[in-house]
Amino acid sequence: MASGSSRNIGAIVLFGPPGAGKGTQAKRISSYFGAPQISTGDILRESFRHGSELGIEAHSYMSRGELAPDSLVCRLVQQRLRQPDCQRGFILDGFPRTPSQAGWLDALLEDKIFENLRPGAALPIVIQIDVDYTELLRRLTGRRTCPSCGRIYNVYLQPPRVDELCDVDGSKLVIRNDDREDVITARLKAYDQQTRPVATYYRSKGKLYLVNGERPVDQVTRDIFAIIIHPPDTRTIPWGL
Ligand code: AP5
Repeated sequence: MASGSSRNIGAIVLFGPPGAGKGTQAKRISSYFGAPQISTGDILRESFRHGSELGIEAHSYMSRGELAPDSLVCRLVQQRLRQPDCQRGFILDGFPRTPSQAGWLDALLEDKIFENLRPGAALPIVIQIDVDYTELLRRLTGRRTCPSCGRIYNVYLQPPRVDELCDVDGSKLVIRNDDREDVITARLKAYDQQTRPVATYYRSKGKLYLVNGERPVDQVTRDIFAIIIHPPDTRTIPWGL
């Protein structure tokens, strides 16, 4: 994808259930607009691989498909957002996931270190990627990831050119630990019970934008880019449709 723009994209939140395509789309936004992708799932998995105390604590929740505690995740996000590369904007992938995380993020964005973000708009732009339950199961059970470059594939929907090998660097693709069926069920339940209310929170603030995530990846990307470049007035969006 051609590289984008030196635009200040502000704070973008990609919101949606496990398997909706948040990670896939976050990488595309990141490479086009030159803003970092901040995936709390990736940060937690990386912390666990490095044997950090927070990573080990989070791992026990992740392996059961439960959410890690708000305080732990917020601490990691705060550290990451204070890095200089976040000054012109960033893409949050998988955060916030509870109303309490959302309130915490809004308060943090008022901090003066973010004053260069999208002028006059402290709140993030929240893009909800909508996908039906059956399709989510197919996406999660078919997902494969490159352990070297992080590229995401799907054996049913977006297979690599050579079976089980990354197109970019030839690494052997891996299956995520939490993509087992019993854990997937628990993750979807956590989404329904704890994460869905975050959409209501941002809708009430006029900051939620809905995208149909069931279409091909390029079409979803096109819709998301259009929202980032010209966020429509949410008061004109028919939410019931
Ligand atoms: P996390 O790593 O964030 O996982 P998740 O939210 O469950 O989301 P996924 O990464 O599974 O899916 P995705 O939406 O990114 O989809 P993807 O692009 O890969 O979190 C893991 C765990 O960490 C949580 O369970 C929790 O324990 C903990 N955690 C993380 N954040 C936390 C927080 N804030 N608070 C507390 N705990 C937290 O795509 C999926 C598949 O579909 C791929 O195979 C892809 O190729 C395919 N695909 C994508 N788009 C399309 C398309 N349009 N058409 C066809 N196929 C597609």
